[in-house]
Amino acid sequence: MAEWGRKGYSKKWPSRTPVWTWTAILSTLFFFAAMLTLEYEQSWTVAERLYLSDYFKSGALGKASATSASKYTLLEAVIGKGQRLVMGDEIEQIPSLDGRPGYRLTEQRVKDGIVRLTWVTGTFNDRGLHRVMGEAVYSNIGSWDFYQKPFWATVAFFCLALFLAVPKDRTRRMLYKHGRRLRGPELVTTAEFNEKLGRSKMIRVQLPDGVSFINEDIGWWDKTFHKDLSRWARVPRDREAMHFLIVGDSGTGKSAAIRQLLSQIWERGEAAIVYDPAMEYLPQFYNEARGDVILNPMDARCPFWSPGDEVPHEAEALTLAASLFPDQGRENRFFVEAPRKIFAHLLNLKPTPQELTYWMSNAGEIDKRVEGTELAAMIDKGAANQRSGVLGSLNMVADAFKLLPKESETTCRWNTVEWAKERKGWVFLTSKATMRERMRPLVSLWLDLLVLRLMNEESTKRKTWFVLDELASLQRLPQLTTAVTENRKSNNPMVLGFQGKAQVEALYGHVAEAMLSQPATKIFLKTSEPHASEWISKAIGEIEIERFRETRTHGQFPVGRKSESEARDITREPLVMASEVAGLDPLHGYLKHGNLVLRMRFPYLELKDHAEKYIERKATAVPSPVIVKSEPKVVAPQPEVVQMAPQRKPPKAAKQQEQQPAQVNEQHPYFE
Ligand SMILES: Nc1ncnc2c1ncn2[C@@H]1O[C@H](COP(=O)(O)OP(=O)(O)O)[C@@H](O)[C@H]1O
Ligand SMILES: [Mg+2]
Repeated sequence: MAEWGRKGYSKKWPSRTPVWTWTAILSTLFFFAAMLTLEYEQSWTVAERLYLSDYFKSGALGKASATSASKYTLLEAVIGKGQRLVMGDEIEQIPSLDGRPGYRLTEQRVKDGIVRLTWVTGTFNDRGLHRVMGEAVYSNIGSWDFYQKPFWATVAFFCLALFLAVPKDRTRRMLYKHGRRLRGPELVTTAEFNEKLGRSKMIRVQLPDGVSFINEDIGWWDKTFHKDLSRWARVPRDREAMHFLIVGDSGTGKSAAIRQLLSQIWERGEAAIVYDPAMEYLPQFYNEARGDVILNPMDARCPFWSPGDEVPHEAEALTLAASLFPDQGRENRFFVEAPRKIFAHLLNLKPTPQELTYWMSNAGEIDKRVEGTELAAMIDKGAANQRSGVLGSLNMVADAFKLLPKESETTCRWNTVEWAKERKGWVFLTSKATMRERMRPLVSLWLDLLVLRLMNEESTKRKTWFVLDELASLQRLPQLTTAVTENRKSNNPMVLGFQGKAQVEALYGHVAEAMLSQPATKIFLKTSEPHASEWISKAIGEIEIERFRETRTHGQFPVGRKSESEARDITREPLVMASEVAGLDPLHGYLKHGNLVLRMRFPYLELKDHAEKYIERKATAVPSPVIVKSEPKVVAPQPEVVQMAPQRKPPKAAKQQEQQPAQVNEQHPYFE
């Protein structure tokens, strides 16, 4: 399948003769002859066959002169005293011993008065014999009835032959008009796509066996003749783990494409982790019986999760901290490293989420816990700016952690370490649009952890799909870049959906380029932002086109072959222009896999909802919040922190106000 270099250069231009049409005409003539032969075999009487050669001979010789006579040996029937040529079905053929055909009268004719058959050799006038034979034996040959069947069959054959030949000749003619592709991506139909990616077995092609996308962009030809091949664009199963990319403006069909993938994953019984910010997949694909989990702290179905469970080994705490405090947009490494280290330190004390939250939003609590370690210097009270910067970062994360349910509010406990071992059930990460900003660190942490576990957990061979729709609504996921670009032998396909390259670049910087070019299967939908559509056009690739330039010398005809083959214009142009990408209709796009590019039209799958997309967690009465005044901050994102008291160690202030229960909902403007 692979093409090397400019193999096209060595190719001759096809001849300009409409070869296919001529072939059609010739084969039609053959067909007509064949039909006549068939007619002869099937419906000619024995007598007609017997005299045929004599009939032609007499006809040919009789043409020359009216008086010419030749010698003939004819079988005749004896009736009374006279003799005449046999006609129609008066005789039948019998095998005879000497190899020559023998004849005998049919029984019916014996009764009619024919006495016997006899061979007569004599000289006859050619023209006369021909006329007699024509009238007595071959009267039907001159009639339309005889030719009718072969004629209509031939007309039908000719139409069919033209029908096949004309498009082929047109394609050849087009080559002269538009040039031909030498190198670069190839625009194919779905049938060709499947055929090229399939494995050929004997003469049959075994279709690729991986996931497929329904393509409604089918020509009538494929629809009629290659229905099986043309309805789905199939990806080979061994290329699935090389990831998928789906790019397009909002409302162009990213979710429609992802939905197709998810229903196939479901059917195959594989596991999936679905980041579903619009809560559009959860209702359709959530299945409690399968053991699915919903990670949304505001959802009543969210299990109890504690960051402490995620660090079976102390060294892992820092990795987890790296996910939580990404280094995007920070000039000073210190403000990335310090919060990470402090967080890792706190985490290794195995707190509950509530304790951890409480510590992180209280400078005093942190001071107490880092006392005597090298970390204490990072938040030294002497360096106010430094201290408030680090504490501010911790505070922001604490804000997200505050949303986590307490163990008493949930029915089960869940963590990524255990889940990754079995991978039972799917994981859905959802968020309400109004809460997204605040939940972002938490959701990003979960996703990053899951990526990390999947990359490193080898104990199960269960394929796990990672579906990240609207990738840019997350913060930078450090593990994701590694997972996508390193592309180890892991069996975990990533499906990345986002709107434009700029969004991803803003998060991932220069790694974005590598990350976005890595996936083997890319789907490009309408993208109107000029830079982004330009990038898509480049990602699809350029083709090199060779155009035919006529160099006919004056008055010379026909054109010599040599001068034709000399004349070539080679140009490079994008296979798909940026403006084409910008002008696509919703649910229309291009699928690129390897060197093959396919025009796609996605159907909108209407799937039944099986589950509620969101069940709000009932806010339980909690001890009244403690208002903790943090120290004056310079960079702190939250000037004042509203804190829920942790259950285990309620601070003194909380005890005093225990009588006034407050609803969680009242604490943050984000709650609805
Ligand atoms: N129920 C429906 N039936 C048919 N088309 C729909 C339906 N719902 C949405 N669409 C159309 O499908 C297209 C793709 O939607 P979607 O896949 O959600 O886009 P994206 O995920 O890229 O934002 C949109 O143009 C939308 O108008
Ligand atoms: Mg969508």
